Amino acid sequence: MEKSKEEAVKGKRNILAAGLILALSASVWGCQSREKGAGEENVPEFVLTYAENQAEDYPTTQGAYRFAELVKQRTGGKVEILINAEGILGDERTVIEQLQFGGVDFARVSLSPLSEFVPELNVLQLPYLYTGAEHMWKVLEGEIGDSFLGSFEGSSLVALSWYDAGARNFYNSVRPIEKLEDMKGLTIRVQESELMSDSIRVLGAVPKQMAYGEVYSGLQTGEIDGAENNWPSYESTRHYEVARYYTIDEHTRVPELQLAAQSTWDKLPEEYRIIITQCAKESARYERSLWKEREAQSEQNIREAGCIITELSKEEKSRFQAAVMPMYGKYCSDYVDMIDRIVAEGR
Ligand code: GCU
Repeated sequence: MEKSKEEAVKGKRNILAAGLILALSASVWGCQSREKGAGEENVPEFVLTYAENQAEDYPTTQGAYRFAELVKQRTGGKVEILINAEGILGDERTVIEQLQFGGVDFARVSLSPLSEFVPELNVLQLPYLYTGAEHMWKVLEGEIGDSFLGSFEGSSLVALSWYDAGARNFYNSVRPIEKLEDMKGLTIRVQESELMSDSIRVLGAVPKQMAYGEVYSGLQTGEIDGAENNWPSYESTRHYEVARYYTIDEHTRVPELQLAAQSTWDKLPEEYRIIITQCAKESARYERSLWKEREAQSEQNIREAGCIITELSKEEKSRFQAAVMPMYGKYCSDYVDMIDRIVAEGR
C-alpha cells in the first residue's frame, strides 16, 4: 500500500532523528578514550573534530591541517584531529555554542562572534585600534595577547593560538565609498557582533547581522548592499562578483583564534595538552606566513578582475575614526587601561 504524505514526512523525521543520534554518539565516542586491544598500538586513542568555515585552500584551513598533522606526529598517532572545512559543522556562532558543550572539539573562529561570548575580547576588535599589522602582532604575541588567551575562564572554551585575518574593508554593489556621506543608507552585513552593528550605525549605514555563508546570496538578491572583509575572504567567497566597489579603509583588524572545547580538554592527559598547545602555536606561525602571501595575491587578483578599488583619503579616514570613537566607551569602558597599553604598543 502507498504511504500517506503524513507517514512519509514522519518517516523522514525519524531518519533525521536517527541520523542526529548517530552523529551525536559518534562525536561522544570520538572524544572518549578507547580500551586498547591486542595489536591496536597504532589506533588513535582520541578522534577529535575541528570546525573551520573557510575553503580548503584558505590560509586558516591550511593552518588547521598543519595543526592536525603535527599533533598526529607528536602523539605517535594517538590523537587524530579531523578537519571539517567550508562551514560544514555550522556557522561560527553555532560552532562556538557546540564547542561550549563539546559537540565540536576544536575550531578556528573569528574574534568578532566570539566576543559575544567573551566580552572583553571586544577590546581587541575595536575599530581603528591598531596602526597596522605589525602593531597588532606586537600586542597579540606579547604579554597582552597572552593575558587575553588566559581570560577564557568560565566560558567552557580554551584558547590556543592567534591566527591572522588581516584588515577588513568595506565593499558594496551600489557606489564607491570615498567619503563618510557615501555610507549613508547602505545596508551592510556585519558579523554576529553588537559592537560591529553599532559601528555601522554610527557611520550612517544600516547593519545586518548575517552568517558568513549567507552573504553571497544576500548581495545577489539585494537583501544587503554590501559587507566588509579582508582581501582573501572577499576573493575566496566570490563576493567581488556581486559587490564590485571595494574601499580600503582598514576599519578593523579582527584576529582569529584556535579554540578547544573545555570538556574535551578536561578529558585529555596533560602530556597531550602540552603537545596540542605547542602544535597550535606552530601552526599559527605557518598560517601567518601563508596569510601574507595570500593577502597580496588576492588583492592582485581582485584588481585584475576589474573591481573598482578606492582608498579613503587621510582626512576622510579621520572622519570615519571620529565617528566610531563612541564604541570605545560603550563597549570597553571597563578596559581603559588595557586600551591605553595597546595604543602605547603602536607608538
Ligand atoms: C573572515 C573570517 C571568518 C569569518 C568571516 C566573516 O573571513 O576568517 O572566520 O566568518 O570573516 O565575516 O564572518
